[in-house]
Amino acid sequence: MSADRPSFLLAQAQTRLRFAQAHDAVLLLRQLLAHDSAHVAALELLGHTLSSIGQAIEGARFLCQAYVLQDPAAQPPRMRGIAFYILGDIAQAREVYRQWMLAEADNPVARHFFAAFSGEDVPPRASDDFIRETFDSYALRFDESLRNLAYRIPEEIAELLARHAPAQARWRVLDGGCGTGLSGPALRPWAAHLCGVDLSEHMVQRAQLLDCYDQLVVAELGDFLRTSGARYDLIAYADTLIYFGDLAPVLQQTAQCLAPGGWLVFNTELQQFETPAGFALAHSGRFQHHPSHIAACLQQAGLQVQACVNVTVRQEFDQGVPGQLLLARSPA
Ligand SMILES: C[S@@+](CC[C@H](N)C(=O)[O-])C[C@H]1O[C@@H](n2cnc3c(N)ncnc32)[C@H](O)[C@@H]1O
Repeated sequence: MSADRPSFLLAQAQTRLRFAQAHDAVLLLRQLLAHDSAHVAALELLGHTLSSIGQAIEGARFLCQAYVLQDPAAQPPRMRGIAFYILGDIAQAREVYRQWMLAEADNPVARHFFAAFSGEDVPPRASDDFIRETFDSYALRFDESLRNLAYRIPEEIAELLARHAPAQARWRVLDGGCGTGLSGPALRPWAAHLCGVDLSEHMVQRAQLLDCYDQLVVAELGDFLRTSGARYDLIAYADTLIYFGDLAPVLQQTAQCLAPGGWLVFNTELQQFETPAGFALAHSGRFQHHPSHIAACLQQAGLQVQACVNVTVRQEFDQGVPGQLLLARSPA
C-alpha cells in the first residue's frame, strides 16, 4: 500500500458516511486497518460506525484499540485499565493499575483493581472508600445503566419470595446495600416497615426520591447489623454481597438480626471453578462465590436454604453474568 493510500481510504469512508452508506464505510475502514492496524483515526471511525449500525460490542473493541494507542499521560488510568480489560489484555491492565498504585498509593480504586488483576492484597470485602468513591460517582447514571444491562435481580427476588412467602405487608424488612432503591418497590408488598441501608450517600439520596422506604440510613452494612439492635422478618441483599469476599462474617451478622423464622434473600455472582477460598475478586472488581462456600457460610450462620436458583445477574459485553439467587431462613 502506498503511503497516501490510508488517507485516501479514510477520506472515501468519510464520504460514504456523509451519504449514509455505513456498511461501505465499514468495508473501506477494514481494508485500511488490514494494512495499518494502528491507524487511530480509522479505528475510532470504525468503532463509532459499527456502534451506529447496532454492532456496539465490536465497535467498543475498536474504540479501545484506538484508546490504548494514545498518550497514557493524558488518560485517566481507570479508563486505560478498562480498555485493556475489554481487549482481553490482562497483563497490560495489571501494569496500568500497578503504575497507578505507585503514583497514588492511597487511591482506593487503584488498590482495588490492582488486587483484582494481580491477586495480591485482596481485601476481605471491597473497602469502604472504594464503595463510596465508586457508587457516589455512579449514582446519577446507575438506574439507566442497570436498565441497559438488563438487570432484573429485584424482580427475581420478588418472584422467589412470592413463591415461598405470600406478600402480606406485615414484616420489618431490611434492604441491605439498597443503592438507588431499585429493590424498594419489589420488597414493599411484604413490608410494614422498610429500611434501606447503604454506604454511598449519593445512592441513598436517589433512593430518598422514591418515597418508598420508611427509613434510609447511610452506613456500612456490617456496622449497621452490629449496632442497629433491630430484628427483621426479611433481609434482602440485591447485588450487594458481590462486594464481599468471605461471606461468613456478614452472614453471621445477618443471622443475628433476623427474627425467629425470618427470611434472607440474596444473589451472588457464580464462581465457575472453585478456588481454595471458595471465592475470588474477579477482573470486573466484583467478587464471585462458589456454591460450596455459600452453602458452608449459611450453615455456619445457622440459616437453612429454602431455595436456590440460577440467574443471569446482568449482561456484560453481550454475555450474561451467571449468578445464584438464594432464599434462606433462620430457625423458628
Ligand atoms: C450493585 S449496587 C446494588 C444496589 C441495589 N441493591 C440494587 O439492586 O440496585 C451495590 C450497592 O451495595 C452498596 N454496598 C456495597 N458494599 C457495602 C457495604 N459494605 N455496606 C453498605 N453498602 C454497601 C453500594 O454502595 C451499592 O449501592
